[in-house]
Amino acid sequence: MATKTQALDPSGIVPMPEYHGHLYGEKSPWKVWVEAQEVPIHMGVSLYDMYTTPVADWGKTGAKAAMLNFETGEMSDAWLLEIPPGGQVKPMHHLFEKMVYVVSGRGATSVWQVGSTKKQTFEWHKGSLFGVPMNAWHEFYNGSGSEPARLICVTTAPLAMNFSPDHDFIFNNPKAFLHIYSSQDDYFSSDGKAITGRVWQSNFIADVRSFSMETMRFRGAGGSNRIFSMNSTHWKAHISQFPSGTYKKAHRHGPGAHLITLEGSGYTLEWNWGKQVVEFPWKDGTCYTALNNFWHQHFNTGSKPVLYVAITHGRYHWTLRTRAAHKSANVAQFGDEMDYEEEEPGVREKFRRECAKNGVKVDDHKMTKEYEVSLRPDTWAKEDWT
Ligand SMILES: [Fe+2]
Repeated sequence: MATKTQALDPSGIVPMPEYHGHLYGEKSPWKVWVEAQEVPIHMGVSLYDMYTTPVADWGKTGAKAAMLNFETGEMSDAWLLEIPPGGQVKPMHHLFEKMVYVVSGRGATSVWQVGSTKKQTFEWHKGSLFGVPMNAWHEFYNGSGSEPARLICVTTAPLAMNFSPDHDFIFNNPKAFLHIYSSQDDYFSSDGKAITGRVWQSNFIADVRSFSMETMRFRGAGGSNRIFSMNSTHWKAHISQFPSGTYKKAHRHGPGAHLITLEGSGYTLEWNWGKQVVEFPWKDGTCYTALNNFWHQHFNTGSKPVLYVAITHGRYHWTLRTRAAHKSANVAQFGDEMDYEEEEPGVREKFRRECAKNGVKVDDHKMTKEYEVSLRPDTWAKEDWT
C-alpha cells in the first residue's frame, strides 16, 4: 500500500491519504497521517533532550517539527514545534485538543472561534502552559527575531483520527464548540482560582516552574504537587517536586501521559509483572511516558530537587487512565501503589549505586511510613488522580 505524502495545508484542509484499514497489523489512520508529515518521529518511551533534538520543516505550516509517538496505545501524541526567529506557525484548527507547554523561547498565540473574527492574543515564554480549545483557530508567533522558540503540544489527534480518518472532517470542520469557548474576554488572561484541594483552574499558567505547590504525602518522599485544570481542554496537568536523594513510590495507571522534566536529573524504571524492566535517564528537557498499567517509579539522583510537569488525560476522559483500585491502596490491598516496604530490595540498592556516582546522599528517612505520617495530611480533591 503506497502512502502519499501530505503536507498540512495552512487552510486546514488536508486530503485524505490512501487508507485500507487497521486490521491485522496495518497502520492506523493517525499513524499514516503522522508518517506522511515527513518530520522526525520518536517512538518508545522517552525523548532525552527536547532543546536540541533535530526538527525538520513541516510542510507549509511555517514550523519545524518532530513527532513524539510514544507507547500510549494511541491515546495521545505530542508535537515538538520549533518556530524560527521572527516566524509563525500558520493558522490551523482541528477536532482534537492540544495542551501546549513552552520548552524554550518566547512569543504569542492568537485564538479565535470558528465562524468568529474575534481574535484573542496572549504572550508566553519558557514555562508557560495553556490549552487550545477543541476546533478553535489558533496560530503561534515567535516573539524573538534572533532565537527560535520550541513548544511541545500534547494532543488527542490519535483518538480523533482513528475515530474518523476523513481529514476534511478533522481539519476543516465548521462546528464551533461554544460550550467550551465562546470568546470570553478573560478566557486566557484570568489569574484563575483554586477549585479544591491542590487543583488550580485557569486556561493559562504563565510559568508552571514557579507556581506554588502543596505537600503530597501519599506518593512518598515528602513530595509536593499542584494540579492544573483547564476549561479549554479535557487535559489535566500537574507539577510535582521531590527532594535530592529520594524517589517516589511505584504506582501504575492507564496510558497517555506525557511527563516533562523541568529541573533536576535522575532516571525512571517501568515494569510489568514478570516482564523486562524499562529504564531510562532524564534531565531538564526530557519528555517521557508511563507504559499502560506498568508499574513506574521516578528516582532523583541529582543534588537538587526534581521538578516535572505531567500532562495527562483528565476531567471527563480520566477513565482513559483506567486503574484497578484507588491509588492510595498498596499492593497488599490489591491497589495501584507500592509502599516502600513492598519493593524488591534491588530497587533501593540500585538507587544507592546511582546516587553514589554523583556523590549524592540517599535520604532513607524521607522514604519511611514514619516520615509520611508526620506530614500534614493531603488535601484531597475531586480531580486528584495523578
Ligand atoms: Fe504515573
